[in-house]
Amino acid sequence: MESKNMTEKEFQEFQKLLERELGAVESDEEQEISEMLRHEGAAHDAARTAARSVRELNAQAEAAVAKTQEEKQAQREKAEAELKAQTEPKPAPPVTRGKYEKVAEETQEPAAPKAAEILRKPGKYEKVTEVSDGYFNPELPKETASERRRKAQQRIRYTRVALILAAVFVVSFIVGIIVNSVSTKNKQPAEPAASGQTATDEQGNIIAGTDTPAADCNIISITPLTEFAAVLEGDTLPLQISMTTSGAANASDLQWESSDASVAEVSDDGIVNGISAGECVITISAKADPSVSAAVNCTVRHMEKVDGVTYVDDILLINKSYGVPSDYDPGDLTDETKTAFDELCSAAAADGLNIYLGSGYRSYELQTTIFNNYTDMYGDEMTETFSARPGHSEHQSGLAIDVNTIDDAFGETPEAEWLKEHCAEYGFIIRYAEDKTAITGYKYEPWHIRYVGKDIAKEITELGISMEEYLGVDSVYATDTTQ
Ligand code: DAL
Ligand code: ZN
Repeated sequence: MESKNMTEKEFQEFQKLLERELGAVESDEEQEISEMLRHEGAAHDAARTAARSVRELNAQAEAAVAKTQEEKQAQREKAEAELKAQTEPKPAPPVTRGKYEKVAEETQEPAAPKAAEILRKPGKYEKVTEVSDGYFNPELPKETASERRRKAQQRIRYTRVALILAAVFVVSFIVGIIVNSVSTKNKQPAEPAASGQTATDEQGNIIAGTDTPAADCNIISITPLTEFAAVLEGDTLPLQISMTTSGAANASDLQWESSDASVAEVSDDGIVNGISAGECVITISAKADPSVSAAVNCTVRHMEKVDGVTYVDDILLINKSYGVPSDYDPGDLTDETKTAFDELCSAAAADGLNIYLGSGYRSYELQTTIFNNYTDMYGDEMTETFSARPGHSEHQSGLAIDVNTIDDAFGETPEAEWLKEHCAEYGFIIRYAEDKTAITGYKYEPWHIRYVGKDIAKEITELGISMEEYLGVDSVYATDTTQ
């Protein structure tokens, strides 16, 4: 771009031009600002005018209210003056008495004006001031001396009654406090809480120290939840106990000990570890006082499989966890089972009862048909609460029998009662007991008996445990087909 030097004249003209332009800009801005100020000023003026108007209106309103009140007061005073004039007693005419006439009435109280005479009824909307003696202010009657006396006596009577009542209340309160403190002192301490529980006193109040760890905790007794425990070799079993304590207690307050560590070991928190088949005793005692203790007989069992069939200490086991191959086929009830059942039926008959074979041996194929029919009718989930999958039914072993009818109603019959009472004498157990459904995996079947031999049957029945608990096994399908 080409540059050119200005002459002095050109420069002066340029400067004038520039000043004019700047002046125009400034005057534009000034104009804008003064316009704004004018607006604001107008707004302020309007606000001031409005405020003045409001003040004037308020003053007018107050004046009007004052005037109304004055007028009302004047009306009231006028009405009161008129009423007073009407009710004021007229001066009695002068009495002329004889010289010796007795002037008895001078010593008497003047007769009180009748209430009807002095009281006016308030107008419908007239506000009246009610006072305690039932008259309306300000037209109170003058009290006579006898009335004053009567009222004074009445006040004295009321005061006396109030004082007596207050005295009775204070005495009852003091007696209540004394009785309460005596009964609290005589109260027996509440039963200590079992471990993990909260003890309460008779009023249901939580006893301090039973729900929070206490430094002076004492274990009063230890009770195992079972007197018999079985565990497989190489398997573990947590032993469960309950405690009675004078405070909170936990595992660290207990001492666990095995009588034979080559059979089973036990950890500090009561987990039994089966080492080798045999029997031992697990002792649980309080560290602070070893004389507080309990014992559990522990049996470690040996499990083995022969041709796909599971035996635990030589007892054939079939349940949801342990099945048998489809070709396991004794063809019928075992001879021992048949013989034992015949004896059982004869004994029941001798007692006048009819126990007979409903369903004995069932092949894998037959169990498949039965199970499939049930699943068609009830679905997998429900069916598995009462029917075994093929290969998992004890009926395939020839050691199980369903007596009489497969019907819940059978449980209510004398035959069912007799079976429960006597089947162990013939070597059988009620395999799926009512209180063991969570362990066996099946609902109560009062008709299903399993042959285990007389000794084992008696032991299981006396211990009141299931076959699973006796053998130290569980009963759960490895694969869940019901999902
Ligand atoms: N009802 C039993 C569980 C079975 O089917 O073998
Ligand atoms: Zn059965």
